[in-house]
Amino acid sequence: MKRYLVGVDKNTETIETDVLIIGSGIAGTYTALCISENIKVTILAKEAIDVSNTALAQGGIAVSLGDGDSPTYHHNDTLFAGAGLSDDDMVWLLVNEAKDNIKNLCDLGVKFDMSDGMLDLTKEAAHSKRRIIHAKDFTGKEVCDKLLASSKKRNNITLHENMFAIDIITENQTYKATIILDQKTGKKKIYKSKYVVCASGGFGQLYQITSNPIIATGDGMAMAYRAGATLQDMEFVQFHPTVLFHKKDKSFLISEAVRGEGAVLRNSFGEQFMSNYDELKELAPRDIVARAIFSEMGKTQSDCVYLDITFKSRKYLSERFPKIFNTCLKYGIDISKDYIPVAPAEHYCMGGIKTDLTGKTEIDRLYACGEVSCTGIHGANRLASNSLLEGLVFGKRIANDISMNHLRVHIDKKNYLISESGETYSQPVSEIEKRIKKTMNQNVGIVRDEKGLKTAKKIMDETLDILNLYKYNSMAQIQTANMAIIGEIVISSALARKESRGAHFRTDYPNTLDSFKKHITKKREESNDETF
Ligand code: SIN
Repeated sequence: MKRYLVGVDKNTETIETDVLIIGSGIAGTYTALCISENIKVTILAKEAIDVSNTALAQGGIAVSLGDGDSPTYHHNDTLFAGAGLSDDDMVWLLVNEAKDNIKNLCDLGVKFDMSDGMLDLTKEAAHSKRRIIHAKDFTGKEVCDKLLASSKKRNNITLHENMFAIDIITENQTYKATIILDQKTGKKKIYKSKYVVCASGGFGQLYQITSNPIIATGDGMAMAYRAGATLQDMEFVQFHPTVLFHKKDKSFLISEAVRGEGAVLRNSFGEQFMSNYDELKELAPRDIVARAIFSEMGKTQSDCVYLDITFKSRKYLSERFPKIFNTCLKYGIDISKDYIPVAPAEHYCMGGIKTDLTGKTEIDRLYACGEVSCTGIHGANRLASNSLLEGLVFGKRIANDISMNHLRVHIDKKNYLISESGETYSQPVSEIEKRIKKTMNQNVGIVRDEKGLKTAKKIMDETLDILNLYKYNSMAQIQTANMAIIGEIVISSALARKESRGAHFRTDYPNTLDSFKKHITKKREESNDETF
């Protein structure tokens, strides 16, 4: 695999900023807002500034505020969902620092639903208490809107959209600069900065069906991997149990909060089934509910199951879940009368760029935050509504670290020249992309085995061999290469984990084994920097 996917030369436009943040979701914008105002920050969004996974988040943010709740209960629930692989110290940071960051978020103008003068708390699966703060069922959009509005008002923060981050330039495992494709002009640019914070999200688009937006192609993870960072826990891919299954829409989430408010699952015969799978029924951890649905779909030879919330009034549903209510209605489903057809879809990756407790990666001056990172908190299965919280807690930690140390760091003045290699191919890569998605869906989904994983590995290796011949000259080609790189890493990590744990279920190794109570990590073998 090439170290750099594209070349740069002395004519490539160079721009300087103190901190470059890649991604405009909660992790990117909150980090930017927490950095001292005397530091110049540039946020780059791959597409429009409001396109991110955060913007689609419905449920909310977990924080132990209710009577009888405490960080200890939140910690225990996170560990339980994580199936033995969550990092205890990191989880304590998450739950203990939740409250202060939520207060900060409220001070930045985010409006959560209130009840009796207090933040309203809803319930989601595997939480032992009601502890999810929310803005109806569009929490992510409310958070994004307010964080983006605050960022725009800050003199030290600049936002640019349609900027695709391709590679970071490193020397001796130290970050130097970032190569960007400006999609509007089609020209490459070099951003020179003291630090880069990668907050570019996950890789849902590796799958045919996902709740993720189109930008989620694993670019940040692939970029960091090429530069020599370690990727950890990549085999753990979370499938959200209840994504709308409609011929016109197979990516719209039906929030877990709907089950939190009592919705039940029924198979295509109208029968409830969750009690056959787990005593927590609909509120069992996400991996268990997703597998139960997958199993019922198989038993009943059906493409979906149904979510039933018809016992709630139309008024309640349209007020508490307006986005879900109206979206379903648009498709002819009145959720106060009709069951909602749902099926599991890729939703979140627990793995990512390995970071420490300040969001630092193994590459000096490269931080990672949010879904792209692996803090170790989520272990083998993320607890609902811990992801936005992780973006906040670690965004703040990263911002503090940068604010404290930036005077000691200088922007690198050296001009880097990177030569290009490969053949120019002009045919579209859409067929290759389709093959990647099909392979991942068929072989690296909710249920896996050696045969399927080996088939997938062979296909992905062949795909990588083809893509390695390319001289990349379009965003589509680079994105497809990133997808193949990450796909191969997910597959080889899943092959190496010969057990079942959390979101990783293997029919040939159905038990959880003590010998696998460890992380699987991937690091590029040779990280020679082909620059001069
Ligand atoms: C949901 O609303 O069900 C998603 C929440 C999450 O992914 O944490």
